Order: sequence, then structure tokens, then C-alpha cells
Amino acid sequence: MTQAVGIARAHTNIALIKYWGKRDKDLFLPMNSSLSLTLEAFYTDTKVTFDDELIKDIFLLNGKEQSEKEVAKISHFLDLFCEYIGKRPFARVESINFVPTAAGLASSASAFAALALAVADALKLDMTRQELSTFARRGSGSSTRSLFGGFVEWAMGTSSEDSMAHPVDDADWDIGMLVLVVDSQEKKIASRIGMEHTVQTSPFYPAWIETAREDLQAMKAAIAEKDFETLGRITEHNGFKMHATTLSANPPFTYWSADSLLAQEAVRLVREELQVPAYMTMDAGPNVKILCRASDMGRLQKALSIHFPAENIISSLPGPAAYVLSEADWQQSKMRLTEGNHI
Ligand code: PMV
Repeated sequence: MTQAVGIARAHTNIALIKYWGKRDKDLFLPMNSSLSLTLEAFYTDTKVTFDDELIKDIFLLNGKEQSEKEVAKISHFLDLFCEYIGKRPFARVESINFVPTAAGLASSASAFAALALAVADALKLDMTRQELSTFARRGSGSSTRSLFGGFVEWAMGTSSEDSMAHPVDDADWDIGMLVLVVDSQEKKIASRIGMEHTVQTSPFYPAWIETAREDLQAMKAAIAEKDFETLGRITEHNGFKMHATTLSANPPFTYWSADSLLAQEAVRLVREELQVPAYMTMDAGPNVKILCRASDMGRLQKALSIHFPAENIISSLPGPAAYVLSEADWQQSKMRLTEGNHI
């Protein structure tokens, strides 16, 4: 029996300049470059075992065997690597999500980044992190960025080979993020569907593309100067512009719920009251994320807890790049899973 094993951890990321729209659906080539912050608090651990004795791929998430539909997504992803190495052994993929279930945060970013690194580790692939990010991209666009820590840019590139992520800054300068959980349900309109519909029907879409480009340049300059307030203002404006493309799609739709609006209002109130810089952003779901200074997180959390149950306000510092785990680390992760405290 020949086995090749790889284990990795990747942290999730939140886009400050959103990726919204594909120019190539099969290759996951984006319409615009994006920039994110990797978060320490949320991550996925994945072990992949290529095994000559397996007769099909197997996928377990949080210890539970997944449906054929879920396995098919993983198999398709593994095929990409196997095309690269010229053979296709079947694999057992085990993932554990350390994303609080209540956070309702998409875990696809950390999931495909962890899987990509675990596969690279198992197959001893000789490729750079940036190159590896072009593989992760084909699992989910946002996972491209989760291979790196801190502030990360996913450059749209000109082809599948150069549409890749690279680190911009380690974000080690009093940066934090709060997640206001207003709804932990799975998103109703998948980002893939939502972005495609907007690209096709929103008259605002060309303006989104044009201004996202300007936002990215301005944001990179703000990061280089460690200018937190400019960084925050661009973050908030960019996110709301993305959501304006959904409201202007035909038929229109939104990821916001009534509670999202209440959460936005609470953030406006609290930052005014405390006179603390704090900026909102939202993704393909109803929860509100707040970019703030790490040193202000405690005060903001306390003030927000007047409006929200404290357990629905989760804080995180910037997170590291994805990394390889040892078998002992993996056993510990599994232990946390069986003890029920992985969430
Ligand atoms: O890559 P996906 O399918 O998870 O899409 C991500 C879309 C947004 O979260 C809205 C923006 C982003 O850049 O992460």
C-alpha cells in the first residue's frame, strides 16, 4: 500500500476590497483585483491521504462523511493537481472547521486554501506559495488569499497562471476585526450566483469595476503609510458599492436582512459615541464585520453589547499564512472535535 499524507491549516480572510464578478467562470478569473485581511480566530485544518488502495475519493467534514455532491467538488479540485503531476490516486480528505458555527462565516476560503496546501505537502509539489494560490483559486476565489497572512492582494492577472495572491503587509500594527453575527444560517444566494447575476444585469457594474481599481491603489498606499483611517474609509465605501450592484441588478436582490440594517445603525451609533474609528464591511451574507484598531476592540465590543448579545460579537486579530501541521497537531485538532469545542 502506498500512501502520501499532507496536513495543513489555513485561516479565513475578509475582503476589504471585494472580489465581485468573474471574467472566466471555469478558471475563476476575477473581473477585479481584491485585497483582504486574514483572520486569526477562524481556520480550517485539513488532512489529505492519497492511497493506492482507495477506489474513490472520500471527504469527511467535522468527522461526518459528506454527500456525493460535496465529494464531487473535492474530486474536481484534486483533479487539477493530478493533471499537474500526471497521475490520479484517490484520496481521503478530512477537514475540521474552526469557525464558530454561529459566526455564519463562509468557510470556503480557509477550506480550499488548507486543502491546496495539504495536497502540495502530500505530493511534495515543488511550487511557490503564489503558484499554489492559482490552484486554490479554482476551489473558491477568496481562498486564493488565505494562503497568506495579514493584508493580502489577489491580483486579477492576465491568465490562469498569473491570477494569484501575494502578501502586502503583515498587519502587525494595531489592526483588529469584530464580527457581528446577526444570522448564522447558510447564505441564501451563493456568491457564485449573486456575482454572475450582477455582472450580467446591473447597470452599476462598470462603475464598480472602475472604482474598485482606484480603491485598490488608494488602499495599498494607505497600508504602506499605516494610515488606518484612510484604510477604513476605503473599506467601508468599497463594501457598500459592492452591495449597491446587487440592489441595482435585475431583478434586484440583497444579502442584507433587517437585522443587518440594525447592526449597521448600531455601529454608526457606537463609533460616534466612543469617537473611535471603526468601519463596516459585509460579504455574501447578512453579518457585519467591523475593521477597527485592535486596541479599541474591547471598548467597541462592550458598547456594542448593549445592542447585541455579547456572544454574537466575535473578535479577531490578523492571522498568519497557511502552514503545514504535524500528525501530533492533527491529533489535537481531532481531539478538540470529539470534545465538541471546535466551535
Ligand atoms: O470566493 P467566494 O465564492 O467565497 O466569493 C467571495 C465573495 C465575497 O466574499 C463577497 C468577496 C470576497 O472578496 O471575499
